Amino acid sequence: MTKITFIYPDGTEKTVETANGVSVLEVAHANNIPLEGACEGSLACSTCHCIVEDEELFDALPEPSEEEEDMLDLAFGLTLTSRLGCQIMVTDLLEGARFRLPEATRNIAS
Ligand code: FES
Repeated sequence: MTKITFIYPDGTEKTVETANGVSVLEVAHANNIPLEGACEGSLACSTCHCIVEDEELFDALPEPSEEEEDMLDLAFGLTLTSRLGCQIMVTDLLEGARFRLPEATRNIAS
């Protein structure tokens, strides 16, 4: 099991345990964490935008695809360590990872 913490816009934190092999978006949904994911992982929205708190972890993650980069460009509150939650798979690398939820999302899929 891998432990991941989500940080809400108001600073509240929720730590959950998850099996590997699912996306960060799926982990959020399984734990009632309000990460939207309007297109359910098909890279057609940016509502699963989340911010990797730890720069070292951000650098260690597999590079985002061009499609992910394009979608991220449309996300509100983009940061240097922003990623799409549906594109980050849980592995041992994510043990102790912290993801910040942005204050707003823009749903271009609807
Ligand atoms: Fe739509 Fe991730 S859920 S891009």
